[in-house]
This record gives sequence, structure tokens and C-alpha cells, in this order.
Amino acid sequence: MAARIALLVSGRGSNLQAVLDAIAAGVLDAEVVGVFSDKPAAPALQRVDPALRWSADARSFSDRAAFDAALADAVAASRPEWVVCAGYMRILGDAFVQRFRGRLLNIHPSLLPKYRGLRTHARALEAGDREHGASMHFVVPELDAGAVVAQCRIPVEPDDSVETLAQRLLRFEHRLLVAVLALAAAGRIAEHDGLASCDGHALFNPLRLDSAGQLSPADT
Ligand code: GRF
Repeated sequence: MAARIALLVSGRGSNLQAVLDAIAAGVLDAEVVGVFSDKPAAPALQRVDPALRWSADARSFSDRAAFDAALADAVAASRPEWVVCAGYMRILGDAFVQRFRGRLLNIHPSLLPKYRGLRTHARALEAGDREHGASMHFVVPELDAGAVVAQCRIPVEPDDSVETLAQRLLRFEHRLLVAVLALAAAGRIAEHDGLASCDGHALFNPLRLDSAGQLSPADT
């Protein structure tokens, strides 16, 4: 049976679109049961049927915990098996993370543990990195610090700007997201005690997206 997936979004929603396209193409056996946003005007919301949308302006809540509680209740009401932050730009509080821990994933545009937080492309360029990438990880209360399931890597070109690097990486991010969600939907990944596993084997190194768009063990 198709896995029930809820997605959290804040912006344009190209990652969400990649998930919708993969489901439509039959390469991801999943159902999007809800799309949730802290930005009522997020273009991402327009990509799904109004019945699947939930949004609220975080500024109209008394504090972070109150917004998170409303979001968590809405997400839970959609009865998801997996909750996926796909371009969700607001920090999730501890209570939200604990409620969905072990089935809460995030896609982050850096080779974690490098560059947690914002401005990842700029920081990779400033550091003179020759390689950049994206990571799909389980979410824990500490920002971008959860167990990494898989990564995609791309070379940094000498004339790259933040924009060219971000744009080139995005295509691979989309493939990474879909590939990891396929594993999640098949019940093949899990997180225990801060370590991710695939098919019951601990992932001491993240899986790697190869040029064919498949995930395989890293050769390190
Ligand atoms: C992506 O780069 C994602 O990794 C980051 O925010 C961006 C969102 O893009 N967290 P989109 O809204 O999915 O197009």
C-alpha cells in the first residue's frame, strides 16, 4: 500500500513537485496526505489540491511552541507514516520533533556535518570547497544535526556563483529526495539512538546517490 507522506514547505516547492512527479510517474509508491506551511502565501501550496493544504502565519501565534503545537496537530490529523521537511525554513521545536521522531526527515543543501543552517552555498564557495552537495537526514531537536541517510555530491566549478551552484545542485537534491523517500516508503530506513539504518544495517557513512540516480553504500 502506498506510504502516507506529509510535507512541510515554506517557499517555491520544487522539492514537493519532484515528489508529486515521482508519484505520478509510478517511481515512488506514496501518497501525499497533506502539505503544511508556515507561509500562507508560499507558492508551494499551489502545487496541490486545496483539500491537502494547511497553512498558518507563525506570527499570529503567541510563541513558537503554540505554532508548533497547531502544526503538529494538523500534521497528525493527516495520519502520515513519514513527515518530510522539503524546503521548510522554520526551526521545529523539541515537542514537534519528539512527536514525529524516527519518521521525520529533512533535505538540507550541504554535505552535513558541514554547513548546518543557512547560506550553505555561499559558505561552500567562501571555503573554497571543490565539492558541494545535499543531505537527507532524520530530524532531531538540534538544527541539521540528525543522522544522515544519504547524500548527493557535485563538483564546484571555478566560476560558480551562489546562484549557479544552487541551481545545479537542486536537480540532484530532487533525485536524492525521491530516492530516500522510496526507501522510506518501502520501510527500509529507520533511526535508533542517533544512527540511521537501511535494511537493518547501521549507516556509519551516508548512502550516496550515483549517476544513475540510485543509492548505494559510500565507498569510503
Ligand atoms: C532547497 O534547496 C532545500 O534544500 C532547502 O530549501 C530549498 C527549497 O527549495 N532547504 P524548494 O522550495 O523545494 O524549491
